[in-house]
Amino acid sequence: MISPHNSQTPIRPAWIEINVSQLRQNLATIRADMPPTLKWCSVVKDQAYGHGAVEIARETVRAGASLLAVATLDEALELRQAQLQQAQLRQAQFGAPILIFGERPPNELAFCIENDFSIFVNDATQAKQINELAQQQGKRVNVHLEIDTGLSRYGIRWTKALPVIEAVLQLANLQLAGLMTHFAMSDELDKTFAHEQLRRFAEVAQQLRERKILPAPQTRLHTCNSGGYLDLPAAHFDMVRMGILPLGVYPSKVCRRVAGLMPVMSVKTRIAAIKEIEPGDTVGYGMGYRAESSRTIAVLPIGYGDGFPRVRNTGYVLIRGQRAPITGGNAMDAMMIDLTGIPAPQLWDEVVIMGQQGHEEISVHDLSAWGSTVSYDIMTRWSVRMPRVYVE
Ligand SMILES: Cc1ncc(COP(=O)(O)O)c(C=O)c1O
Repeated sequence: MISPHNSQTPIRPAWIEINVSQLRQNLATIRADMPPTLKWCSVVKDQAYGHGAVEIARETVRAGASLLAVATLDEALELRQAQLQQAQLRQAQFGAPILIFGERPPNELAFCIENDFSIFVNDATQAKQINELAQQQGKRVNVHLEIDTGLSRYGIRWTKALPVIEAVLQLANLQLAGLMTHFAMSDELDKTFAHEQLRRFAEVAQQLRERKILPAPQTRLHTCNSGGYLDLPAAHFDMVRMGILPLGVYPSKVCRRVAGLMPVMSVKTRIAAIKEIEPGDTVGYGMGYRAESSRTIAVLPIGYGDGFPRVRNTGYVLIRGQRAPITGGNAMDAMMIDLTGIPAPQLWDEVVIMGQQGHEEISVHDLSAWGSTVSYDIMTRWSVRMPRVYVE
């Protein structure tokens, strides 16, 4: 659990439901689609995009993921503690190695080595430093090296990567476990730049082959996120890194090659108050909505402080299988919806904020359109005060 809620206290009437059976079904569908020799790294950073890192890691490793990836040292430690605990309790284990994305500040390095976390090394000086620290601890560290082929984020520019790779290979206490790149645009229809990035990456790989450095059995080449996995089979190489797809969310509306995946996360709340308002009455901060006729308004105990995007008179929720529009601007802890015309609503009725009810569905893509953002942002912004409930 990543919220303070525990089974001894009543659950707050605004919560996140994680459907573990759906996750398993998605994983089976993806596994059936994957070439059998292709390895996969389960990306569970930022609490597996708000779903709970430990819970998602446990299922993905059980389904065959051979590496877990996070973005911070704390995230790596949380996973490692859970792995050790599971082993001690002799419960189903998920002992895959843990890779931390991004650059590590110098004061984290010794700690990462001590805990056997795989890390990135993206310059020759830092490589020597990590090598020395590893030597002091009598360890060999698994390192991945990022080739920047156009995202201009982490990594060494593809034109300058070769000497750094060669330098890393000279260091006895470093094991080059991966050579990777990351796409800037893998889930759009236009794959021109993705193909150019792939060409740049392949160019470095070819140079390494010519120098008889590759293929090395212990060095995995990996470039694909979920979008790349779906749409760029030529970029699969040895391993793919998937975060969003097993969660049942397609990276974009045009990137949906594997059919039948369904979202694992729903967001729900309950009606906390119902009131009648008169023509001319206003609703919400800034008087963002003015009633033109008598309306029935419900107050929901969830707001932007819980991660709902800050909207004004935009979007709807589902109640009794019907759409009820959001009225006014949502507040930190509450939002108001127009219930007029919905038959017999009751206090504490269940309301779907994201997910399915009856024949209606609100997708993460709908919420991201209302909030002018992307699905990744919506999923990761649900706050810790929203209890996560895992249902089979
Ligand atoms: C380096 C890297 N690889 C893979 C992923 C997974 O991406 P996705 O969730 O689209 O599969 C991410 C996520 O942002 C990432 O930063």
